[in-house]
Amino acid sequence: MRFKDKVVVVTGAASGIGRATARLMAEEGATLILGDINQAGVEAVAASITAATPPLAVAFDAGDPESCRMLIARAAEAGGRIDMLCNIAGILDWAPLDQFGDDRWDRMLRINLGSVFFLSQAAMPHLLETKGNIVNIASAAALVGIAYSEAYCASKAGVVALTKSMAIEFAAKGVRVNAICPTGVKTPMTGEAKWPEGIDLNLLMRNASKMGDMIEPEEVAAAIAFLGSNDARTISGIAMPVDGAQTAG
Ligand SMILES: NC(=O)c1ccc[n+]([C@@H]2O[C@H](COP(=O)([O-])OP(=O)(O)OC[C@H]3O[C@@H](n4cnc5c(N)ncnc54)[C@H](O)[C@@H]3O)[C@@H](O)[C@H]2O)c1
Repeated sequence: MRFKDKVVVVTGAASGIGRATARLMAEEGATLILGDINQAGVEAVAASITAATPPLAVAFDAGDPESCRMLIARAAEAGGRIDMLCNIAGILDWAPLDQFGDDRWDRMLRINLGSVFFLSQAAMPHLLETKGNIVNIASAAALVGIAYSEAYCASKAGVVALTKSMAIEFAAKGVRVNAICPTGVKTPMTGEAKWPEGIDLNLLMRNASKMGDMIEPEEVAAAIAFLGSNDARTISGIAMPVDGAQTAG
C-alpha cells in the first residue's frame, strides 16, 4: 500500500501502460484522477477499478495546454491535493523523413512533449506542497536513434531533457522528477502500428530488446510505481531504461 492517502494523476489511462499503472496504483491505495482523450475508454477503466474512493475519469487533450491545465485543476479540486503525476499519454507516428509533413511533426511535439511541459508546470505548485513527484514515460527511442522515427525520438529525447531540468530545479524543494525509457511494450500502440511503406525493416529493427521479447505494460507500471514511491526517495533526474539491454550497447 505504498500510495495510501496519495492522490495520483495518470494520463493515457484508457489503454496500455496508463491503464496498467492506474490498476497497480489503485491496488496500492491511491486515489486516482485518470485523464485521456478517449472519454469512453477512460470512464470504462475508472469503472473497472474498485477502490475506497472511486477514480475520477476526465476527458482531456494532451496536445492542448488549456486542456492540460483543466485536468490538473480538476484533479486538485477532486483530490484536495496532488502527490504524483504520471505523464503517460502519447502517440506513435513514423514515416521516411521526406514523407513526414509539418502537421505530423507539430502534432507529435504537442502531444508527446508539450503535454509533459504543461501538465508538469500546472501540477508543480501542488507537488511542492506535498513534496510529491513526477514520472514521465519517455522511451528507449529517447536514448538511441530509430530509423523512420525522427519526430518520435526527438519528442521523447525532449521528455528526458525536461525531466532532468525539472529534477535539478526542484530537488532542494523536495519534488522528484524521473523518466522511464521502455522498449517495445505489448499495447495497442505497438499492436495496431503499421510499418511505414517502402522501409528497410532491418534498419528499423536494429535497436530491439536483447531479451528477444516485448515487455508487458504491467512491467512498466511496476517501474513507475517504484519511482513514484518512497522506496525511490533519493532518486531524481534519471531516465531509467526498461528495455532488455536495448540501449546498453
Ligand atoms: N508501447 C510501446 O512500445 C512504448 C514504448 C516506449 C514508450 N511508450 C510510451 O508509453 C506511453 C503509453 O503508450 P502505450 O504503449 O500504453 O500506448 P496506448 O496507445 O495503449 O495508450 C496511449 C494512451 O494515450 C492516449 N492519448 C493519445 N493521444 C492523446 C491526447 N492527445 N490526449 C490525451 N490522451 C491521449 C490514448 O487515447 C491512449 O489511451 C506513450 O507515451 C508511448 O509513447 C510506449
